[in-house]
Amino acid sequence: MMMLASRRTFMSTTLVAAAVPSALPAASYTWAEIEKFIEKGDVKGKLTRADLPTPALLLDLDAFEANVSKMIGYVKGKGRAIRPHGKTHKCPEIAQRLIAAGAVGACAAKISEAEAFAAAGVRGLLVTTAVVGKYKIERAARLARLAPDTMFCVDNMQMAEELDAAARAAKVTIPVAIDLWIGNRTGIQPGAPAVALAEGLQRLKNLKLTTVQAYAGHAAHVVGFAQRKKVSTEEMGKAVETINAIRAKGIAMERLTGGSTGTYNIDTDIDGVTELQPGSFMFMDVDYNRIGGADGNEFYGDFPNSLTVLTTVVSKPHDALVIVDGGLKAFSTDKPFPPRIKDNSAVTFAYGGDEHGKLTFGAGAKALSVGDKAEFVIPHCDPSVNLYDRLFCLRGGNVEAVWRIAARGMAQ
Ligand SMILES: Cc1ncc(COP(=O)(O)O)c(C=O)c1O
Repeated sequence: MMMLASRRTFMSTTLVAAAVPSALPAASYTWAEIEKFIEKGDVKGKLTRADLPTPALLLDLDAFEANVSKMIGYVKGKGRAIRPHGKTHKCPEIAQRLIAAGAVGACAAKISEAEAFAAAGVRGLLVTTAVVGKYKIERAARLARLAPDTMFCVDNMQMAEELDAAARAAKVTIPVAIDLWIGNRTGIQPGAPAVALAEGLQRLKNLKLTTVQAYAGHAAHVVGFAQRKKVSTEEMGKAVETINAIRAKGIAMERLTGGSTGTYNIDTDIDGVTELQPGSFMFMDVDYNRIGGADGNEFYGDFPNSLTVLTTVVSKPHDALVIVDGGLKAFSTDKPFPPRIKDNSAVTFAYGGDEHGKLTFGAGAKALSVGDKAEFVIPHCDPSVNLYDRLFCLRGGNVEAVWRIAARGMAQ
């Protein structure tokens, strides 16, 4: 109780006056109090990194804000629009911040993700995967009533006809994008097949074709800038030719959207690409750090890593082995490389099962004891974010906000 009182006195006398408080003293709240702060999001000036239950997903706000302003500034400076992909953050608070910073809206990977964004008031949505099947189509029409500017992707007439019928029943006109296959995942073939689809869509009175979406995901992670540029330029070139061929049929088209964090400084130089939809830039991960920059650096450092997972050392079975409380359930495991520890580079992480990570120590590594914290840059940001309910936003060592990852788990 004594400690609690002194912490509160400190905060009311010192922190209120400081614009950016230096790290608060060590935890002096009870867990019950901390739980309430987190639940209410009432954390500013109260909690520090040391107070957080681990494993925890952390966002370094200074790095995040710098990434947002750099990417949006760059893309808009090239005369293109940006609709960052919400599959990365799954967090309406972030979508709103990106829009406030100049984005035209948010992409959503799935209908359920788009519903979560729309429910929170996010507009300018583009659902980047096809909505297939009766129930998803019903949901699309319902979403179109709530957020009428939401765009949906189509790559075949069967789905388009079903969407059109649902739109008619819901008395809405749904804006649609043709999803183009440019060597990755889904879509109709560029050229004549896509042009025929565009013409077919003109017959459907409750759909309005406005957009071509061409996402070259396989270009995004090509290692080496020159090779990445070659792949993306070739693939996006097919999309530009296709949208021009659609226009040549007298069909007005508003946008060609695509691109990624790995190709933002490539696609913005391609005439005809009008909108970018990158996602990872705001967080970054080990995977993206490996692709190499336009500056010739092997480390892709255009956007600093803002996203980490904080763990606690829970055991030290012997001098050469330290165990942290984050394992297969704390990080996405789809990449062949492990999380990278922050600020202790001679430490190596290996998965030690669902709940644990094993740290081994090279020359010069800082020793870690039970109770110490260890923070990691994650292998792949999107699927790791999907493992957490909350994002703890830090400025320096202090927790400034807690954002709900409201679309976490929304894979439908
Ligand atoms: C359709 C689509 N657009 C854009 C992106 C964003 O890519 P990145 O996170 O590499 O910037 C993705 C990511 O997978 C995607 O699926």
